[in-house]
Amino acid sequence: MNNTRELPIRSASASRAPLPPGPKGNPILGVMPEFNRDTLGFIERCRNYGDVVSMRFLYLTAYFLYHPDDIEYVVSTNARNFIKSRTLRSPFFQRLVGNGLLTSEHEEWKRQRRLAQPAFHRQRINSYGEVMVDYTARTIAGWKSGEERDIHRDMMRLTLEIVVKTLFNADVSADADKGGRVRSQIVKPFASQATLKWIMDNRLPTSAHRRFNRDANEIDQIVYRIIAERRASGGDQGDLLSMLLQAHDDDGSQMNDKQLRDEVMTLFLAGHETTALTLSWAWYLLAKNPDTERKFHAELDEVLGGRLPTMDDLPRLRYCEMIAKESMRLYPPAYGLGREATAECEIGGFRVPAKSQIFMFQWVTQRDPRFFAEPERFNPDRWTEEFSNSLPKYAYFPFGGGPRFCIGNSFATMEIILVLATIGQRFRLMLAPNHSVSLLPAMSLRPRDGIRMNVAPR
Ligand code: HEM
Repeated sequence: MNNTRELPIRSASASRAPLPPGPKGNPILGVMPEFNRDTLGFIERCRNYGDVVSMRFLYLTAYFLYHPDDIEYVVSTNARNFIKSRTLRSPFFQRLVGNGLLTSEHEEWKRQRRLAQPAFHRQRINSYGEVMVDYTARTIAGWKSGEERDIHRDMMRLTLEIVVKTLFNADVSADADKGGRVRSQIVKPFASQATLKWIMDNRLPTSAHRRFNRDANEIDQIVYRIIAERRASGGDQGDLLSMLLQAHDDDGSQMNDKQLRDEVMTLFLAGHETTALTLSWAWYLLAKNPDTERKFHAELDEVLGGRLPTMDDLPRLRYCEMIAKESMRLYPPAYGLGREATAECEIGGFRVPAKSQIFMFQWVTQRDPRFFAEPERFNPDRWTEEFSNSLPKYAYFPFGGGPRFCIGNSFATMEIILVLATIGQRFRLMLAPNHSVSLLPAMSLRPRDGIRMNVAPR
């Protein structure tokens, strides 16, 4: 497949380069109404203008980039010229995660990343494998043959339990103590069906926004209390919070309570729903592709032969890994990345003024026929080593890239494989008749009304 392209000749200075084409939209609102009405359709249609497309959202100039080389330029090679987009600096995200890793910039981000990194070293996260398998086994222990379940809800619940255990060494399962139940409240504001419009309008005093702010206040109290309790008791409890509390910089400085709170909330936001979504979409895709499902089961039978998986099995669960990869290609939980240009620059031969908002969509580029044969087909077998090596680096970027690359990528990959293997050993999941699955592109790519499936023992 030819995946190169003719690059327009770059002009000597960015300011002489032309502006890219793009939809004009409404004289006042720009493309906002169309974008809000049909987000995924709109970002797909814009691709028809070319690899670099410009438009206006109200008073903001936005660029959509579709080519892997241009995406690489923004998130990696010239990352210094970009900060996170306005959406991530909105009051909504500020209230939720403050200046945590996802949202902070410059020196503050560098320091926090340095301090948080050891919590994600392979050795440390390997110790979470057992928690992931135990919690999954416990989840499915109550499943009954033939019953219909909302698998998305189950996966959200499971990844919540896993993240709370690995983050705070606390339990949110049904039989947990009162403290555990209170901690499960943390998830409430994250569960809001916030769309981009909702996020941008967060200052409006709607009842949904009032509820969001009330929940956020409640959570703050819980998280600060957990931090205070942990500071008082000291010691390494084996969780991520212990690592963050112990972390200190070269000059001996450590995170204060506000920084800890912001990082805890960030890990919660970034790590819980994304993983649940990958799992939900993987079950959906497996159910729709029985040949792939058979291969999946064959690998489990061969590698595990009926026992629960452990970390040692991971290198041999190759097909599970390919399923995870292909699911994130077709249904990337983070379906777009956003940046803002701090100085004028040139991208793909086009002029990009300072303050432009730049968006790159996994949803579109990961389905681009220039890079993926039969792009709409769920085909985990495509992920051979040879294919992976031949792919332009940013044709596939579910975890982002460059310095802001997802810190939880190994944690998530491990969790997805272990959960798939644990459940796949015991159950087949089939799409419930009379339930149609549709997409809701909110903060992440959600199933609008869940994914209803029938469970059958294998
Ligand atoms: C399938 C699961 C996951 C997906 C698809 C995913 C995706 C992403 C993406 C695309 C970014 C880059 C955002 C940007 O550049 O603007 C990111 C960053 C981040 N992710 Fe993940 N993530 C996943 C799981 C996790 C987990 C499990 C954790 C933690 C427990 C986590 C923590 C973070 C953090 C802290 C950042 C910010 C890193 C920084 O800027 O330094 N993620 N993630």
